[in-house]
Order: sequence, then C-alpha cells, then structure tokens
Amino acid sequence: MTLLQVKDLEVRFAAAGSGLFGLNKQWVRAVNGVSLTLAAGQTLGLVGESGSGKSTLGRAILHLNPISAGQVLFDGGPVDIARLRHETAMIFQDPYAALNPRLSIGQTLAEVLQVQRKVAPQQIPQRVNELLELVGLRPELAGRKPGSLSGGQCQRVGIARALAVEPRLIIADECVAALDVSIQGQIINLLLALQARMNLAILFIAHDLAIVRRLCDRVAVMYLGKIVEEGPVEAVFTAPRHPYTAALIQAIPEIDPHRPLSGEPLPGEPPSPLNLPTGCAFHPRCRHARETCREQLPPTHFLQDHRYSCVLEQSPFIDKEL
Ligand SMILES: Nc1ncnc2c1ncn2[C@@H]1O[C@H](COP(=O)(O)OP(=O)(O)OP(=O)(O)O)[C@@H](O)[C@H]1O
Ligand SMILES: [Mg+2]
Repeated sequence: MTLLQVKDLEVRFAAAGSGLFGLNKQWVRAVNGVSLTLAAGQTLGLVGESGSGKSTLGRAILHLNPISAGQVLFDGGPVDIARLRHETAMIFQDPYAALNPRLSIGQTLAEVLQVQRKVAPQQIPQRVNELLELVGLRPELAGRKPGSLSGGQCQRVGIARALAVEPRLIIADECVAALDVSIQGQIINLLLALQARMNLAILFIAHDLAIVRRLCDRVAVMYLGKIVEEGPVEAVFTAPRHPYTAALIQAIPEIDPHRPLSGEPLPGEPPSPLNLPTGCAFHPRCRHARETCREQLPPTHFLQDHRYSCVLEQSPFIDKEL
C-alpha cells in the first residue's frame, strides 16, 4: 500500500543578495521536479553528492521547507501540517544538537508524549520507560541530560523521540553519519528491527552507499535536484543504468584487495544549483554525454520497477565489474 507519494515537487530558494528591488532575482533550484512513492513498511534510500537536494527534499515532504510547486500526498490525498506532525517524524544527523540540553531525556520524551496525546497523562512515565527499552537504553538513563550520554546513546534517544509520535513515516537524514562505525551498525540493526515490528516507512538519506545497500529496499539517486535513477537496491547496485549512479557505486571503497576499483572516478564537483547546466544537468561530468545531452532533457526509461533518466538505452555498466 502506497503511503507517501511525491509528485513533481520543486523547492526554490531566493539566492542571497539577488533580487534587490525585485530585479534579477536568482533562484537556487534545490529540488527540481521530484516524483517518488514510498509504501508502508518500506525503506527508500536517498543518495547523492553534497548539495544535491536530499535534505531539502526530506524537509519539504514534512512541510518543514516551503514547497514551490508539486504535491505531497499521504494515503493518496493531500495532507495538512497537523496530520503530518502526528504521522511522521524526523531523525537528524547530530544527535546532541537535536536534543534540548537542558531537559533530561525522560523529560524530552515526556514532552513529545504530552503534545501528541497518544497516551493518557498518568501513563506517560511508563511509556517513557518502554520507549527507552525499545531503543536498547536502560530506563535509569531517563534522568540524564544529553551532555552526559555518548553519541550512540543520544541517537537512540533521537530514535525514541521519533517513535514516541508512533509515526508511519520516518525521515532519517544522515542519522548515523556522525557515529563510529561499530555504533552505526548497532543503530542500523535497531532501525531494521523497529521497522519490521512497526511497519514503518523510512526515507533514509545517506552518503554511505554501503549502509543504504544493507538497510534499504529501494534506492533513489539524486543529482542537482532531480532523481536520476530509482529502483530496488540490488538492481541498482549490481546493474546501474545511469552513469552518475555507476560512478557513485564505483567510488565505494572496496574491502577486497583482489578486486581493485575499475574505471575512473567521477571528475570534478557538481555545478551550482543557481546556474543549472542546460539539457541533462549531469552532462558536463558525463563520459557518455552526446550532443543532445547538452540541449535536451533526457528521457526516462522504465524497466519494471526500476527507472532512470538518460539517453543511454543499453547500460554500459552491466556485467562490468563495478
Ligand atoms: N534555506 C536555504 N536557502 C538557500 N539555499 C539553500 C537553503 N537550503 C538549502 N539550500 C541550497 O540547496 C541546495 C541543496 O541543499 P541540501 O542541503 O538539500 O543538499 P544535501 O543533498 O542535503 O547535501 P548534504 O549531503 O551536504 O547534506 C544546496 O545548493 C544548498 O546550498
Ligand atoms: Mg543534507
């Protein structure tokens, strides 16, 4: 069942310093026509280089950023902010910054439960304990402030706070990026266990493709405000169709020394979303670019449940060691 549907979403920001007296206003096209769907209980990874618009998209879905065009549908219909706050939650990258340093973690969780009114006031202390246990923290920690907890413990509190809402959708923005590798593994396992138990849909924004492969059912690859490829994780990782996806996958550090990296890494950096290239935005960095890529938007191809937007009909990346 489709829970979330995003249709042709656009988010533009007025560029700093532009448009004085309403003249020559310049726009940062952070999200530039994104469509995606997310089913209940499914995890969709969202990857792409820094500045590609991942956080802006995540925030716009929750109406934490203004939407310039397009639609966000929940259960097939438009959704107001009050309902979004009851059915969705966000987990952030920096667990310390996301928590109020003056409140104990018990108070932080109690506050969410009070606002959400999902349990009776007299049941709040018990629910706080349950939430802490759910994320693998001892209830004795309820009296502690975030400053006296480790990064991994704080992120567990961040997850407990998100779960306090009893959400159907969680947007996790780089939620393990700041943690040590061993703690990352614990938090990922926790998310997987909770998801199975609660039928949660998760939009998992990450730089780390290896983690996305482990955690997610599907993955969407974003470049300069557009999704260039989307599909089941195994299909996209083993048979990428878009040259940008192939380059990202190829840049994953290979643990096996007998399988050195093939091909060349992605050249340069993405251009500014203030001044998008014409045609396919990836063409200035693409080794497969043709004349038409400079002028025209690429077509979108659909292969069952896998789609990509590129002039290439046959992927040159399949069956090559990536
Ligand atoms: N409030 C804002 N005002 C102006 N520009 C913004 C604003 N928020 C984001 N941007 C711009 O929008 C683009 C997309 O930013 P965004 O933070 O969504 O990227 P990201 O993919 O999340 O990057 P990262 O991986 O570094 O977190 C960037 O060019 C950024 O500078
Ligand atoms: Mg971001």
